[in-house]
Amino acid sequence: MRPEGSAPSARDLLALSLGTTVDNAGPGAEEASQSFRPRRLSPPTGERWHGTPHQVRIAGCGKYLPERVLTNHDLATFVDTTDEWIRARTGIQERRIASTEETTSSLSINAARGALATAGLTPDDLDLIIVCTFTGDYGGMPNVASVVQHALGANRAGAFDINAACSGFVYGLGVAHGLVASGLHRTILLIGAETLSRYLDWHDRTTCVLFGDGAGAVIITGEATATGTSTNRPQSGGLMSLVLGADGAGANALLVPAGGTRLPPSYESIDARQHFIKMDGKDVYRFAVSTVPDACAEAIANAGLTVDDIDLFVLHQANVRIIRAVVEALGGSWDRAFVNVDRYGNTSAASVPIALCEAVEMGRLKPGDRVLVAGFGGGLTWGAAVIEWSPFAGLTNPD
Ligand code: UT7
Repeated sequence: MRPEGSAPSARDLLALSLGTTVDNAGPGAEEASQSFRPRRLSPPTGERWHGTPHQVRIAGCGKYLPERVLTNHDLATFVDTTDEWIRARTGIQERRIASTEETTSSLSINAARGALATAGLTPDDLDLIIVCTFTGDYGGMPNVASVVQHALGANRAGAFDINAACSGFVYGLGVAHGLVASGLHRTILLIGAETLSRYLDWHDRTTCVLFGDGAGAVIITGEATATGTSTNRPQSGGLMSLVLGADGAGANALLVPAGGTRLPPSYESIDARQHFIKMDGKDVYRFAVSTVPDACAEAIANAGLTVDDIDLFVLHQANVRIIRAVVEALGGSWDRAFVNVDRYGNTSAASVPIALCEAVEMGRLKPGDRVLVAGFGGGLTWGAAVIEWSPFAGLTNPD
């Protein structure tokens, strides 16, 4: 039974810290009642594209972080924690929190607009939109990608989501690369976006200090290969290797226990706070530092490179200690590691594309550079890839 007591809810605590009121009214009911008129499909372009192998490259990137900053000091006013503890154990100093009007799709749309601008493309150029997330706008459907498709007016694009938690973006890179390389699609918008603050138990200091909200996006596109034949590796630009892995035996180390088919929402599940992220931090830490270096080493070797050939390490921004451990295990140079976990916390599937985009904006990632990306987290899942960075044809900085 739901207790009648008046203890402040987690959302009340967060609202208190941010000096806002939290609007509990969701958009779903109002939107569902609006009438819908199916639109006519665009006529076929007649272009010879489908089924022809293509060389793949990343043609643009964008990012979006909510304006609201929640510092460690802010957190310490309503959670039993300290700035010293959070900094020492994670490297995090502050994170961004979505406003009550923002959702995973709205973060995605902002990042997508930046990616399109840097690529010099419009929504009409998109064949497909993929959103990597586990914090969708709705409780299962529709997917976030369809909301983004509609908002952008990307009328030729298909749309689906990928859920591989913090590894999602690296999985998405593989899917998008394969679809473009095979010639099935020409231009794909790939987004990593999360509104993790809605899944945080603000009474649980072991998780709520770690995560933040945000979105990053890239455009993946292709050009016909000169010979018209497929090559495993692009001559310049694009994905040079991909390693994906999963170990479902460790699933309980990082999960949202309720809300799915296994434990549908109930008063009991809400009272037991089972709709929030639960994590055995030590288990996930051990998994990360033992599995990710091997996956990264394999990705570097499969690309035909050595660690010294890697210009930038863009690893999932969960904890600066993990990033340092992985780079050290690989024998890489720390000054080639990209770190922004101090400012954004762990943004799950958004962390790698946000970091890639920020590295471009800061001039740390340039055309021709080889960048190692890696994600790891819920599932347990992991992924690592080497990308040769490509020039962008559009705006250099959409901000
Ligand atoms: O993106 C998905 C992947 N996620 C990750 O990669 C996260 C992996 N795990 C980690 O990064 C680390 O395990 C954490 C940062 C989550 C925790 O660091 P830790 O060094 O493993 O700390 P711990 O869990 O062993 O906790 C140490 C102590 C405990 O107290 P006792 O039992 O030693 O008295 C905790 O209760 O720190 C306590 N503690 C805190 N104290 C202040 C836990 N959370 C907090 C907190 N503030 N927020």
